[in-house]
Amino acid sequence: MIYLIRLLFFATMEQIRINTTEGRSLLIMAGDMSDVGDLLPATGLFIITDSNVRRLYGGSFPPGEVLEIEPGEKSKTLTVAGDLCRRLLEAGADRSAFILGFGGGVVCDVAGMVASIYMRGVRHAFVSTTLLSQVDASIGGKTGVNLGDYKNIIGTFRQPEFVLCDHTMLSTLTEEEFRSGMGELVKHSVIRDRNLFFDIMASVDRILERDPALLGDFISRAVKIKAAVVRRDPLEKGIRRILNFGHTFGHVLETSCRIPHGVAVIQGMLIAAELSVWTGEMPHSEFRMLEVALAETGMVPDYELPANVVNLISRDKKSQAGSLNVVLLRSVGRAVVRRLSLTELAAFVNYYRERKRIVNQ
Ligand SMILES: NC(=O)c1ccc[n+]([C@@H]2O[C@H](COP(=O)([O-])OP(=O)(O)OC[C@H]3O[C@@H](n4cnc5c(N)ncnc54)[C@H](O)[C@@H]3O)[C@@H](O)[C@H]2O)c1
Repeated sequence: MIYLIRLLFFATMEQIRINTTEGRSLLIMAGDMSDVGDLLPATGLFIITDSNVRRLYGGSFPPGEVLEIEPGEKSKTLTVAGDLCRRLLEAGADRSAFILGFGGGVVCDVAGMVASIYMRGVRHAFVSTTLLSQVDASIGGKTGVNLGDYKNIIGTFRQPEFVLCDHTMLSTLTEEEFRSGMGELVKHSVIRDRNLFFDIMASVDRILERDPALLGDFISRAVKIKAAVVRRDPLEKGIRRILNFGHTFGHVLETSCRIPHGVAVIQGMLIAAELSVWTGEMPHSEFRMLEVALAETGMVPDYELPANVVNLISRDKKSQAGSLNVVLLRSVGRAVVRRLSLTELAAFVNYYRERKRIVNQ
């Protein structure tokens, strides 16, 4: 009876489903983390989290073995993933184990990866605790770790059974981490939904105040965009590539300047928008509108692209035989994927670095 009441309770929350040939995922928006136990098996639960999240929310974890990792990007390595597998084995996890990643994008990427390789795959789900993971990283089934400075070069596709997003947890994020999440929120609007972009721009101050109702509305609109793209292309063979908008340059900035992922993506988006004008894909007026609107939010950083940027990008997994797929804009709200040679990219980078040098003189 209590179980049925609980199920009815979950049914009243906003749910978004991703059903694909590669797996199914239930996304629970505006959930309550303390209810997660009702979605989990009674035994065999292993919770992967980081030390910050455990300190803040460990008291609300459902009963299970807790495996803690250090917070931050440095934990996205094969060594950490291997160590987690070893700890699972030592703790007696068998093929019926259920892994719950409880944390931000780093925890979700690593926990998802471990769940997809441990004993050739065990069940898993996420409680998503950062703005960035609630709008993006926990959704869609991409897992990954880095290899040195190369981001997400090792990974798998595996849909989490569910993702629970409790927006009240966002109140404890640092200002910097919250703004990082804004980067991926804005990205979803820029690639697919012009109205959402203008709505976000008109509400930035209230979003930054973390008004939960408003935040919930924007997160759910962004997640619907991502879910719709993932449903069409779960393995990123085509349309799903547009979700990487801003990431080609963003990953380079993230690694070379050691800045949070979403902060790097914001600058990466503006560089990609400028590339869209340079290639003739988008009118300059659209770029200026985007640039001015983002500048007014105070969210855009201004880091210098390293001199070896093309070399770094050429080893990116989007690059093949001297050319790579780039995500460009035709307008704000409409992204397209185009093939660009590394020679063209190098010419653009020269132009971009020179323009920045003159502007900053
Ligand atoms: N798999 C995907 O599709 C995908 C998409 C986008 C980004 N990503 C990845 O996500 C990662 C970035 O994720 P992130 O920004 O969530 O970083 P993160 O997981 O490192 O979290 C940022 C910081 O916030 C802390 N934290 C987490 N939840 C908190 C809370 N509720 N209150 C206070 N502090 C909290 C963490 O301990 C950490 O120090 C990157 O590695 C990026 O590559 C993956």
